[in-house]
Amino acid sequence: DAPDPCIIVVFGASGDLTKRLLIPSLFNLYCDGLLPDFFAILGMAMDDYTTESFRVRMSTDVQKYSRQEQFDETAWANFCDRIHYLQARFDDADAFVQLKALLQTLDTRYSTDSNVLFYMATPPAVFGMISSGLESIGMNAENEGWRRIIVEKPFGMDLSSALSLNEEILSYWKEQQVYRIDHYLGKETVQNLLAFRFANGMFEPLWNRTHIDHIQITATEQVGVEWRGGYYDKSGVMRDMIQNHLFQMMAYLCMEPPTTFDPEAIRNEKYKLLSAVRILKPEEVRYHAVRGQYDEGVNLDGSPAKAYRDEHLVDPHSNTETYAALKLRIDNWRWHGVPVFLRSGKGLRTKSTEIVVQFRRAPEFTFRGTPASSQLEANQLIFRIQPNEGIEIRFLAKRPGPSMHMRKVNMNFEYDEAFSAHPGTGYETMLYDCMRGDASLFSRSDLVETSWRIVQPVLDVWGEERARDFPNYPFGSWGPKAAFSLPSPDHRRWLART
Ligand code: BG6
Repeated sequence: DAPDPCIIVVFGASGDLTKRLLIPSLFNLYCDGLLPDFFAILGMAMDDYTTESFRVRMSTDVQKYSRQEQFDETAWANFCDRIHYLQARFDDADAFVQLKALLQTLDTRYSTDSNVLFYMATPPAVFGMISSGLESIGMNAENEGWRRIIVEKPFGMDLSSALSLNEEILSYWKEQQVYRIDHYLGKETVQNLLAFRFANGMFEPLWNRTHIDHIQITATEQVGVEWRGGYYDKSGVMRDMIQNHLFQMMAYLCMEPPTTFDPEAIRNEKYKLLSAVRILKPEEVRYHAVRGQYDEGVNLDGSPAKAYRDEHLVDPHSNTETYAALKLRIDNWRWHGVPVFLRSGKGLRTKSTEIVVQFRRAPEFTFRGTPASSQLEANQLIFRIQPNEGIEIRFLAKRPGPSMHMRKVNMNFEYDEAFSAHPGTGYETMLYDCMRGDASLFSRSDLVETSWRIVQPVLDVWGEERARDFPNYPFGSWGPKAAFSLPSPDHRRWLART
């Protein structure tokens, strides 16, 4: 289905998200013919822009952030003509009256059938204020067209604030109107986890504790906190990446097959999976979780990189983790005894998101007495989420020659060989789906809350006990030493290459 005609209102439009991701993604959709014929974009923020000056700024930024290989000037000019701006404070009742009048004008001019998508590109502290402003002008009710809001993470800072935030949001909106974005779910390679598992007959029978030894989910970044120290220092990687992006990938990878491809059926299965994750006791945290903070080090180009505590807007004594590794257990029949290791961090050696499913070793008796007996390594299935998107199966093969020697070999599927389209940022799909009213890729309040329940004991312990060894890994390294041994009591180890 094509998306419905609509106006997209971006609150916080002068911020980073709009220029880096929202406008470029909307423009990508436009160039691919995936925006409705009738649409308009209205940015709203406190900064001093007019529609004209905002268009000029977006035109400069889009050149920098668009993924279009050949920037289409004519398409941009047409697209840009539909961008408008309203300078306003979110606590100003008059601003919402102005907004209402402007929406009516735009609706008439662009024939958008009264459908409005509100994008909260703002900190969560103002979600309530904006929602209340919209309620005061009757824009949250779906009397004429549809009204949807997209909410950016963080959905709270912990379980209790997430509960309050959800309660606040749901006091203005119905759950079906709320689209909580996790841009990892917009990534083609993440969605492909469902295709891989449920559209193929050969893998699902192996997808359980009888055949799988453990799972690793890794998302590393080379960059430090860049300009986002103010936000990040209150957050840390557990809240910024693990509680949302990594848990969503774990849910897709480990959930039971949904009986239909209906959004609620999929989200129900994800919820069941996350609810089965064993909640750590405070005394278990130190054996199941490792934290790190980057010290000064070197960038890839050899130039010096700052320590986290010297970054802009970061507390010089910060206890915030820029790296975390976690060992989880899933208490259900399928996964009993199969640990899931998660890790993520900034200021690391590579940028890479990868999932490794490690199978149980083959029994070694057949090759006893041959050189191969010491070479029997476990098979691995690797999902390269980004970059070099693809899937790899690693297995053993006999090395050519007279004796029985083994070597690991790969079977490889590469996205860019198989398909011509390049995977996008994730935002294109999410915006497109929201305009079509398809919530499959968005999170639901119960999913968000369950995810907080899992990380809460770790956040509590880490909040109470200062990390005396911080900073504990150099920028540009592989992370803190303690994380290397997290899997090893069980004779397991992280896949070496990330
Ligand atoms: C965001 C985090 O959600 O994801 C950032 O807030 C992080 O800190 C980013 O850099 C990573 O996304 P991607 O798509 O580049 O892996």
